This record gives sequence, structure tokens and C-alpha cells, in this order.
Amino acid sequence: MKFKVLAIAVALSLTGIAVTPTIANAAPNTTKSITLKKVKKNATSTSCWSIVNGKVYNLTNWINQHPGGSSRIIAMCGKDATRAFTQQHTGNTRVAAELAPFQIGILKKKKKA
Ligand code: HEM
Repeated sequence: MKFKVLAIAVALSLTGIAVTPTIANAAPNTTKSITLKKVKKNATSTSCWSIVNGKVYNLTNWINQHPGGSSRIIAMCGKDATRAFTQQHTGNTRVAAELAPFQIGILKKKKKA
């Protein structure tokens, strides 16, 4: 009987290990502060960083997955895509959910003069 309980516990913990990657797929480091200068340096289709609502996203792997075409994303590499993104996608929760895992940090705010 004791062995059965132990076996179930082991099985459950293994299940736990199996679901961990789902959590790891969420944005790896969303709190890192990233400067606009750094974002601008990643302005190509091989390294494409973009800003939406003050958050920085690495959209490199999204370029070829975007249902609206790769060119729309390439045009946003190294830039603030907030206006284009909200104009096209505001209120679409699915789109917001697609964007979230690509977050790599938060845009560093400029110092007040
Ligand atoms: C920056 C991150 C972006 C993400 C994560 C994203 C995501 C998506 C997703 C998930 C869809 C499919 C929508 C659906 O099937 O309901 C879509 C479609 C589309 N996207 Fe984007 N998008 C982004 C940026 C943009 C930008 C900047 C533009 C245009 C300037 C754009 C233009 C479009 C168009 C034209 C479509 C097809 C029509 C539509 O579903 O609205 N997207 N996008």
C-alpha cells in the first residue's frame, strides 16, 4: 500500500516535469530593462526586436509565422510598433496572446531633464 502511494507520487512528479516546458515557453525574462539604442541595433529579419506599449519583443521567429505576412513584421524591426500594432490588432485577445511569449524586456525610460 505504501509503495502504491509512493508510485503515484513519483508519477505525479514526473507529470510535473513534463508540463514545465509549457511554463518555460512564457517570456524568459520580461523585466530586463532594454534601451531604445539596443532595440535599434536589432533591425533586421535575422535579429528583429520591436516595441509594443513599452515592452520589448524579439519577433525574429514570428516573421515567417505572421498571418498578415512577413513584410509587416520586418517593417517593425528595430522600431516602436505600438501604433501599427494597435491600429491593426486592438481588442483581439488572440493576437495579444501570440505576442506575449516574445517579450524579452521592458523599454528603458528616458531620464527626465
Ligand atoms: C508586432 C506583433 C504582431 C503580432 C503578434 C501579430 C499577430 C497577428 C495574428 C495572430 C494574426 C491573425 C489574426 C487572426 O487570425 O485573428 C495577424 C493577422 C494580421 N496582422 Fe498582425 N501581428 C503583429 C503585427 C502586425 C502589424 C504591425 C501589422 C500591420 C502594420 C499587422 C497586420 C496584420 C494583418 C493585415 C493581418 C491579417 C488580417 C487580420 O487578421 O487582421 N500585424 N497578426
